[in-house]
Amino acid sequence: MAEINVPPAPPVTLVIFGAMGDLTRRLLVPAMINMTRLGLAGDGLHILGVGIDPGDDQTLRNELDAFAPEPGGEGAVEKGEAWERLKNRISYLQGDFLQDDIYRSIVARIAQAPTGNAAFYLAVQPGFFGAIVDKLADHELTLEQPGAFRRIAIEKPFGRDLPSARALNAQLLARVAESQIYRVDHFLGKETVRNIMTARFANLMIERLWNADCIDHVQITAAETVDVGTRGKFYDVTGALRDMVPNHLFTLLAMVAMEPPNSFDAESIRDEKAKVLKAIRRWTPQQARQDGVRGAYTAGTLDGRPVPAYAAVPGVAADSTTETYIALKLMVDTWRWHGVPFYLRTGKAMAVRDTEVVVQFKPVPSPQFGDSAAGVPPNRLVIQIQPDEGLRMDISIKRPGLAIETTPVSLEFRYASQFDVAHLVGYETLLYDLFIGDQTLFQRADAIEAGWAAVQPFLELWAQGGMPEPYAPGSLGPDAADALLARDGRAWHSLAAEENAPGRRIEGATQAK
Ligand code: BG6
Repeated sequence: MAEINVPPAPPVTLVIFGAMGDLTRRLLVPAMINMTRLGLAGDGLHILGVGIDPGDDQTLRNELDAFAPEPGGEGAVEKGEAWERLKNRISYLQGDFLQDDIYRSIVARIAQAPTGNAAFYLAVQPGFFGAIVDKLADHELTLEQPGAFRRIAIEKPFGRDLPSARALNAQLLARVAESQIYRVDHFLGKETVRNIMTARFANLMIERLWNADCIDHVQITAAETVDVGTRGKFYDVTGALRDMVPNHLFTLLAMVAMEPPNSFDAESIRDEKAKVLKAIRRWTPQQARQDGVRGAYTAGTLDGRPVPAYAAVPGVAADSTTETYIALKLMVDTWRWHGVPFYLRTGKAMAVRDTEVVVQFKPVPSPQFGDSAAGVPPNRLVIQIQPDEGLRMDISIKRPGLAIETTPVSLEFRYASQFDVAHLVGYETLLYDLFIGDQTLFQRADAIEAGWAAVQPFLELWAQGGMPEPYAPGSLGPDAADALLARDGRAWHSLAAEENAPGRRIEGATQAK
């Protein structure tokens, strides 16, 4: 089990809007079961579920009970004794988020709770975010008192473009302070994502080379094998760009590209992340056309199962122009990254599930190795976010023997081989930080807006029409995505399954005299 070297969070009532929804069942409650089991949350944690569905405390408990896996079963959480303890502290209020009655009831429930601390978790359709915060403020539920914090956690998507994100920020900030708003990006709950900062700033030999002098380019990939499935209605108005890029992929980009913060306190880190996102170059429409590729999967098979074309997914418009794949080339205009392209790609129904950051160093200049580009492959750092979390450094060594021959090898670290991190769902850290009031892992308003500003040229370009490029399920995306890198004389890092297996061979192994 992961080591827990922190005190339990203070007592709090977590009010979940959308209590019967998927997020609550799949992630929030399992995370709280884990927190209870690990001592990250004590008996002072109370859950007040709020939802439109009829029911009482027992209804919600039964709903959650039916979902949480049995001890020894599949999944990242076991019900066991922790669930039995937590279950008794779950209650439910049924009502309409837009009516005052429900907020009056919440006021009454919190008044009866053993603590005045409350966190409001908005696990609802984004259309409700602004209205719920307005109502919470109208009913003085957001008013903090000594010994009674009031915080609001908001799931993505935070806006659907730059103007709507700005408007939502303005609406929220008119009623509550930035210090009360916790904008969630669940990628920041992933151990390997948080490790990027440590890998960089705790290792001089990495950080000293982390710049345009030594790095050729960076690739950030989030490939998924899942298709759109039953999410057609949501996905068709969202698409891969909005769903993954200004949030999850930019979270990774910010971790890779930020400057060292002055300290590890939340604001210093958030300042540096926001700065780097603001430095992403705003493409002209012409550049966006050239440096962005969008794709949509066609009908085919994936792992032996038939996959209907995206356009045939229930809830998707037959003439949909929504993309299920995206590849972008971006530039980060800071001294450190001058001239270093960042290539990003993400898609559904792809050949492998693989989220990774690849930092490709420049080739060595040494003429002794002959044609250096072919003879000595450049160093490469692969940060494997998921699955099989770890880090790999590709280097060249001398092959044993009398001749001077080089061969590439990997220095490799896998979390699973040294730590037991498998039994967490990823929301434990986020909820713990929400309860203790640490905003490090949450998005600040300016960073959110900077992210949308960077993708806005692509949104505007594609809003004008045109169709995404087709790609087959089980492939690595449309050919145009390969052409995007080939144009710069580069290629995507291979995602073939054996690539990521420990002890794998590296492509391009060759020798020079
Ligand atoms: C969500 C997106 O935010 O992230 C999904 O809406 C996507 O479409 C998911 O599948 C990916 O997260 P993870 O943690 O499974 O990599």
